[in-house]
Amino acid sequence: MGCSAKLNECIAFLEGGQREKSDFFSTPGPDPLQIRDWTHKSNHTRTRQCDTLGGMKVAIVTGAAQGIGRKTAEILAGAGYALLLMDLQGCSETLAAVTAQGVEAAEILGDISQETVVARAAEAVRSRWGRADVLVNNAGISFIAPAETVEGGAFLRVLAVNLVAPFLLSKAFGAMMLEQGSGSIVNVASIAGLVGISDRSAYNASKHGLIGLTRTLAAEWGGRGVRCNAVCPGWVKTEMDVADQAGGGYTDADIEGVNPMGRFAAPEDIARAILFLADPEQSGFINGQALAIDGGWTVDGSWQSLRLRKR
Ligand SMILES: NC(=O)c1ccc[n+]([C@@H]2O[C@H](COP(=O)([O-])OP(=O)(O)OC[C@H]3O[C@@H](n4cnc5c(N)ncnc54)[C@H](O)[C@@H]3O)[C@@H](O)[C@H]2O)c1
Repeated sequence: MGCSAKLNECIAFLEGGQREKSDFFSTPGPDPLQIRDWTHKSNHTRTRQCDTLGGMKVAIVTGAAQGIGRKTAEILAGAGYALLLMDLQGCSETLAAVTAQGVEAAEILGDISQETVVARAAEAVRSRWGRADVLVNNAGISFIAPAETVEGGAFLRVLAVNLVAPFLLSKAFGAMMLEQGSGSIVNVASIAGLVGISDRSAYNASKHGLIGLTRTLAAEWGGRGVRCNAVCPGWVKTEMDVADQAGGGYTDADIEGVNPMGRFAAPEDIARAILFLADPEQSGFINGQALAIDGGWTVDGSWQSLRLRKR
């Protein structure tokens, strides 16, 4: 089936479906049920299929339009994964980058904290590829404010996106993985899930919760072949960092000064660790771990002048 025929099929499928209201806290954003299929068999790339149990490897990446999610999608594409990209905003650049590597890809736009969006994504993956090998729960929102000023609704919204949505996605795609008897879920938490950091009560609670979810799913599903791990980045140079710095939260010098390696993480630092945790050949007996990717920040008990003397 050609690209446009497939697209029409997707649109028909979506138009026939029931459009329900948000299940979790309303948000701005595009129609939650948009899907775009960018499967290419271009002139210079041929669609690549990597065998796993006789079929294609399929990965779902949330927050794939930019930042860590975009880089993760590109690196998974390089390893041969077909990709479902999910985000609130269009993933055109990511789609172009991954399909240029010869893999199939499609996007679903919508708020991942809505159960209808998650259900549509799972249906799309099931009908298109029939399997899910890797789920990267990457999409997240930052929220910086003194605890005494945070309203309940804002706190709940952070939990909805950063914690409830990964649970809903894990439930939906985990069901496929459990049927297969294999799969890997990688949650993008934060060092804010390992230690307290001022002015981030909701964000830190969501990331601590995400690590708790990671450990619980690892315990519950590990015996049925489905692993669940988390990566815990330190500060990463992405659009999220730009927005947080613009809000006056901190400066480059704050982060570079406190980090033993003297720099921010790059999205690729995180994406490479995600690929490692995704791949059963590389990490098949690693389950339930929360891997700090922070240049040693959270293990460094040095005081500032001592740290700087060692550079
Ligand atoms: N940047 C950092 O310093 C840093 C550090 C530690 C952890 N993290 C975590 O890494 C993940 C990615 O961060 P990033 O820096 O790439 O962020 P980013 O803001 O650059 O990108 C996040 C993406 O998620 C999407 N998104 C947000 N809410 C969504 C929703 N409800 N439904 C669907 N998509 C949604 C956004 O549209 C965006 O494309 C987040 O979970 C973040 O908490 C980031």
